[in-house]
Amino acid sequence: MSMTAASTSTAGASFRYSKSRTGGVKPNIAAARPRSLVVVRAEAQSINPEIRKSEEKVVDSVVVAELSKPLTAYCRCWRSGTFPLCDGSHVKHNKATGDNVGPLLLKKQKE
Ligand code: FES
Repeated sequence: MSMTAASTSTAGASFRYSKSRTGGVKPNIAAARPRSLVVVRAEAQSINPEIRKSEEKVVDSVVVAELSKPLTAYCRCWRSGTFPLCDGSHVKHNKATGDNVGPLLLKKQKE
């Protein structure tokens, strides 16, 4: 029977297994001993640097029919000092990072 070998790593540990032609997977116990330990840690980056961090999830809702102005800009860059409204801080953010974020514009429907 022909076997193919493969390896994978989980949480820094390396495991080897063999797969038969019929699709069954058998652990390769002899090859399972740790050889070297490589730890890869992804740095979690927060999109939101500081806005309402005490809340589990930042959610805002707007009744569009009740907008006071004909055009209201809502922040999508998480850098606004008037969040959830856009204060133009995305311009500075875009220049500093090369990003291209901008606001969500809500337009009041003409009556
Ligand atoms: Fe965030 Fe304008 S300040 S989109």
